[in-house]
Amino acid sequence: MKPKIFVTRELPKPAMDRLAEVFEVKVNLEDRALTKSEIIEGVKWCDVLLCLLTDTIDAEIMDANPNLKGISNYAVGYNNIDVNTATQRGLPVCNTPGVLTETTADMTWALMFAVARRIVETDKYNRAGKFKGWGPMLFLGNDIFGKTLGIIGVGRIGAAVAKRAVGFNMKILYSDSHKHKELETNFDAKKVELETLLKESDFVTIHVPLLPTTKHLIGEKELKCMKKTAYLINTSRGPVVDEHALLLALQNKWIAGAALDVYEFEPEMVEGLSECENAVLTPHTASATVETRTKMGLIAAENAIAIIENRRPSEIINPEVLDS
Ligand code: GLV
Ligand code: GLV
Repeated sequence: MKPKIFVTRELPKPAMDRLAEVFEVKVNLEDRALTKSEIIEGVKWCDVLLCLLTDTIDAEIMDANPNLKGISNYAVGYNNIDVNTATQRGLPVCNTPGVLTETTADMTWALMFAVARRIVETDKYNRAGKFKGWGPMLFLGNDIFGKTLGIIGVGRIGAAVAKRAVGFNMKILYSDSHKHKELETNFDAKKVELETLLKESDFVTIHVPLLPTTKHLIGEKELKCMKKTAYLINTSRGPVVDEHALLLALQNKWIAGAALDVYEFEPEMVEGLSECENAVLTPHTASATVETRTKMGLIAAENAIAIIENRRPSEIINPEVLDS
């Protein structure tokens, strides 16, 4: 008899096919996130849980099945899972880092361009039939090349964003607890305090994980530190930015604009944000390419297979559970 896996939402076909080679698969085929009680029902049935960043996995869910063997998250971020509790229960928790680095870095740049060159706003204007001819002052935006890029958090994604800046002749500042020697040597990046980064950058982009220490890392005080001509980009996790403060910043023009892929109260946006023309708002699609979502699915599948075969998964967040 095959072991059982519960998949909370359908993944790209190669991943589903790989899972089916090893597991009896139960998958949510509906185009929506499951409720907590639906996840609990699935967990009671399965040996391994394969979940998404939209599923909050807490002690109640883990305890629904004392024979659960582990959790494979289809995401690099894992703030949706109570990892401490999983570790206490001896449950391996896996994620899908690496493969979405370049895709997310591309999207960060797409958002920078979209907001600085007013791509979304002008597209809407054009479609509405308002374009009556070239104008010397029509939709002036801001240059990107030659400006200062401030990167908050230079993990894999932050570093990939930095590398792309070279072609645009940008000055790179970063804030992080660690020095990034490669970025300093090869890309002339400079490590500075967050406050300096905020004061000096024309584009501020966030690439930290969501942790208790990074929640509201950017709030009213930080937004007021930024240049009035600067833009904020967030492709990390919504709660890193105090979205109410950001709304005030956009409405009162403390900054020039923002491009967001993630939201503090996702999938909701704070009221008023969608009316801000100086904001570009994408629906958490930074890693959403066919190539990358397929690779993420295959990694999540291999992680789940390693869990059930009692092997060390290639991507494990709490390896200490394997040693005990
Ligand atoms: C996407 O946000 C991820 O964490 O994979
Ligand atoms: C995510 O993969 C990061 O380390 O930035």
